[in-house]
Amino acid sequence: MAERIFAGPQMRRLLDTVEEGLDRVETTLARELRVGDGLADITSRYLYEAGGKRVRPMLTLLTAQLGSGTTDAIVAGAAALEMTHLGSLYHDDVMDGADTRRGVPSAHVVWGNSVAILTGDLLFSRASQLMARLGEGAIKLQADTFERLVLGQMHETVGPQAGDDPVDFYLHVLADKTGSLIAASARAGVLFSGAREEYLEPMNQFGERVGIAFQLLDDVIDLSADADETGKVPGTDLRAGVPTMPYLLLGRSDDPGSGALKAAIDDGVARIADGADPSILDEPLARLRDHEVTARTKSLALQWSQDAVASLAALPDGPVREALTRFARVVVDRSS
Ligand code: IPE
Ligand code: IPE
Ligand code: MG
Ligand code: MG
Repeated sequence: MAERIFAGPQMRRLLDTVEEGLDRVETTLARELRVGDGLADITSRYLYEAGGKRVRPMLTLLTAQLGSGTTDAIVAGAAALEMTHLGSLYHDDVMDGADTRRGVPSAHVVWGNSVAILTGDLLFSRASQLMARLGEGAIKLQADTFERLVLGQMHETVGPQAGDDPVDFYLHVLADKTGSLIAASARAGVLFSGAREEYLEPMNQFGERVGIAFQLLDDVIDLSADADETGKVPGTDLRAGVPTMPYLLLGRSDDPGSGALKAAIDDGVARIADGADPSILDEPLARLRDHEVTARTKSLALQWSQDAVASLAALPDGPVREALTRFARVVVDRSS
């Protein structure tokens, strides 16, 4: 990802700066994820060691270059936000019944639901401890963001209520569960580097829009992906009955073919919930992958990415703005 965002000689210096910052974030994570308790030490480092793109710290490091650059506060803030993300993954895999994460068996598969949930809680505590060193503004950023993330996950879990439009509801869920933390990451770089306050709101909007674009493309990847590349089983969410944008758009299409496909998916989801083998959905999910609703989801992702780029108008011309622009494009042009 980094090679595509920082292409070209004038971006070389920015790339070096960000990579150096990411190394410091890794060192911080490795240190802050040590726990005295033997089991907790293993479980909390498990998904951290399994990989991850480190998108959120990268955004913080990038926007920090609009101010005083990669300070200790920036590194700590970036690590705390990545830790929050990490904790949310432990919980998310329990909720989604997802068996793999970052190419390894999910934590709940290895240690059971209770240990996975408690590990997520531990990571949130550690993230808060790290943020607390940065002062009240940082604690507030962390708490407000986490509240939105949790409510996004809760709304996704309970689903739209009477009178909610399912597609609009879903976009709200995406903004809350993913956009909030990505927006916080972009905002943190401005906040903790003393950059101009007028960049805060554009960075917020940028992060939120990129987050939505990112999730919409995730829905496409969820159907089309090669498990070796994504580290996830294709169609995981849909098989567990978690709706994604292609499925929701299918519900909006009124042609008989779409109706029949939706019925086949619903039937498969109900049978899987009753204990049937998840592979019964392989064929309907392959049809969904090739259906125009999936292409439409991809165009929607592209539109959100373009809107994210439009949020950058308030930033000065230069390598940071250029890298953020490319970041928004790369997010919707990836296969894992
Ligand atoms: C996955 O996020 C979970 C979402 C919020 C969509 P990432 O795709 O950033 O996951 P990692 O950190 O690279 O594993
Ligand atoms: C994850 O969303 C969001 C959070 C962890 C807050 P998803 O459930 O859509 O993401 P993946 O597909 O498991 O990474
Ligand atoms: Mg999930
Ligand atoms: Mg989920």
